Amino acid sequence: MAIDTRTGPDSARRAPRLPRVTSSPRATSATVRLWQSTIGKKTVMAVTGLIMVLFLLVHMLGNLKIFFGPHDFDAYAAWLRGIGEPILHGAWFLWIQRAVLLVALVLHITCAVQLSARDLAARPTRYAHGQRPQASFATRTMRWGGTIIGLFIVWHLLDLTAGVTNPHFQEGRPYHNVVADFQVWWINIIYIVAVLMVGLHINHGFWSAARTLGVNRPARNTTIRVTGTTLAVAITAGFLAVPIGVMTGLVS
Ligand code: HEM
Repeated sequence: MAIDTRTGPDSARRAPRLPRVTSSPRATSATVRLWQSTIGKKTVMAVTGLIMVLFLLVHMLGNLKIFFGPHDFDAYAAWLRGIGEPILHGAWFLWIQRAVLLVALVLHITCAVQLSARDLAARPTRYAHGQRPQASFATRTMRWGGTIIGLFIVWHLLDLTAGVTNPHFQEGRPYHNVVADFQVWWINIIYIVAVLMVGLHINHGFWSAARTLGVNRPARNTTIRVTGTTLAVAITAGFLAVPIGVMTGLVS
């Protein structure tokens, strides 16, 4: 005969009473709880950041085709619009990529703003000796750099994709559009500053992402740092090569 060990005066004394789990409308799902947690937001930032770095690496490598002349560069830009054909129709791949990047960017910025607000709220307004507590240099660089990069992306799309801020823009002639852009000194400055910010952002962001995703270990930390810095320097140098190429007359 089976003995019910849950009953009897002894078990009643020893077994702690657990709260009854009831499904209430206010019960939050695991996804919502993760989204609301700091680690959840940091994870979203890490994953979306890595997606965007992948895009930037491919974008930078594609841009280097400008050194092979207008035919190669414009043909490459046209090919980008038809990736996936005939499985995908027309420019579907491009639009899927745009949707993924837009979602990644919006999530990345939303989490960054929310985490910054939490960080500020958690700080005392003043230290005992009257100074305002400040975030670390790296954190402030990430915040300012991120804001500059966000503004740059809007301007860059209006400039070279939509062509609305570019008086020399010609549809379907990206080589011409890029070369016309970099004839103007202040446009060069905008690009150079933005690309340097991108480099700094990736350098620190890669390390932060590795820590958030838990891949850092004392034995691996140097490798992670070197990988992040190499990626940041390669992406920065590759992007900078284009305005420098136009300014020096190598691309014309
Ligand atoms: C010197 C640096 C850069 C050059 C010469 C450049 C060039 C271009 C060109 C020509 C296009 C339009 C492609 C087309 O419509 O056929 C484009 C699109 C784009 N670029 Fe850049 N780019 C540079 C840096 C950057 C940076 C630093 C970022 C991000 C931080 C970026 C993000 C984008 C995005 C999101 C698009 C839109 C892609 C799409 O149409 O879906 N670019 N870029």
